[in-house]
Amino acid sequence: MRKGINAKIAGTGSFAPSKVFTNYDLEKMVDTSDDWIVSRTGIRERRIVEDGTVSSDLSLEACRIALEEAELEPDQIDLIILGTVTPDYLLPSTACILQDKLKAKNAAVMDLVAACSGFVYGLSVATAFIATGQHKNALVIGVETLSKITDWDDRNTCVLFGDGAGAAVVSATTEEKGIMATSLSGDGSLANLLHIPVGGGKVPLTKENFDLRQHYVAMQGNEVFKSAVRAMESSAKGIIQQVGLSSDEIDLLIPHQANIRIIEALAKRMKLPMDKVYVNIDRYGNTSAASVPIALDEARKTGVIKEGSNTVLVAFGAGFTWGSAVIRW
Ligand code: ACO
Repeated sequence: MRKGINAKIAGTGSFAPSKVFTNYDLEKMVDTSDDWIVSRTGIRERRIVEDGTVSSDLSLEACRIALEEAELEPDQIDLIILGTVTPDYLLPSTACILQDKLKAKNAAVMDLVAACSGFVYGLSVATAFIATGQHKNALVIGVETLSKITDWDDRNTCVLFGDGAGAAVVSATTEEKGIMATSLSGDGSLANLLHIPVGGGKVPLTKENFDLRQHYVAMQGNEVFKSAVRAMESSAKGIIQQVGLSSDEIDLLIPHQANIRIIEALAKRMKLPMDKVYVNIDRYGNTSAASVPIALDEARKTGVIKEGSNTVLVAFGAGFTWGSAVIRW
């Protein structure tokens, strides 16, 4: 067995709501244009949930697909880690709601708040739990209904986000393939560059701050942009070095889908051609924790990821948080 490999991805699934919201729809709501959005972000459309649909609903669909591929029943799952910043409730965790909907009655359940890095963080935690022998089959989910925390009157943010879910079954393995390494980082000193100012313990929601629309996502886009490129470059390069691979041996990079210019800058710094970088931001926008697992599922289902290949996942999000993983298939 290759040193360090204890867990593998046994199945993946993803799900996006059917309602498509194009840049032309946004042109009717705020002072923006398809041309600005495409050239500044790479986004052409995003999926948005209908009223009443919540993160556990999207997760359920993604998990069912992942479980079917892994040939596991829900009661064989012993750990659910759900990354989200858009939970169904503040209490209890969305993982608990999902466990009930899925009938995964033997699973330990937790939400994990790492914003856009939520899936990579969850993958790392699940891998570590499996390595200890405490758990054997985990479901790791990245899910968001960002449309619920987006200020649809703010052109700086409303053009960026979308809804969706991605899931992976992570199972113990003795094979020579699987999750070779994961790496996690954070910097809380930059928290105020991307946050929801009110609604927590620090500034509770009041009628006044609600009317000022401070319960929605606020972001200093330019600063986040620069930090995202730097952090993802350092994380991805570091983990590739850690597992002893060269850049040439990386068959596919799956970065968080926040902005095509961030992705292209990252690829350039890593000296990777864009045909080795998975991009679907044009169809989904930034789905935060869901972006990496949706892309991972698509890359597997469309044959972009082949047996024996090496994939690097890398994400960056509010907090700031960032992290990466190397997977051999
Ligand atoms: N349509 C038209 N004009 C716009 C729009 C819009 N939708 N949004 C902003 N502008 C204007 C601004 O008002 C500004 O005008 P001004 O020069 O007259 O003041 C101009 O465009 C340039 O604005 P910038 O903010 O400097 O534009 P930038 O090129 O930085 O692009 C963007 C903004 C797309 C937000 C980019 O900074 C970005 O992608 N940042 C990173 C986002 C990210 O990675 N988030 C990470 C995780 S998200 C999470 O964790 C939930």
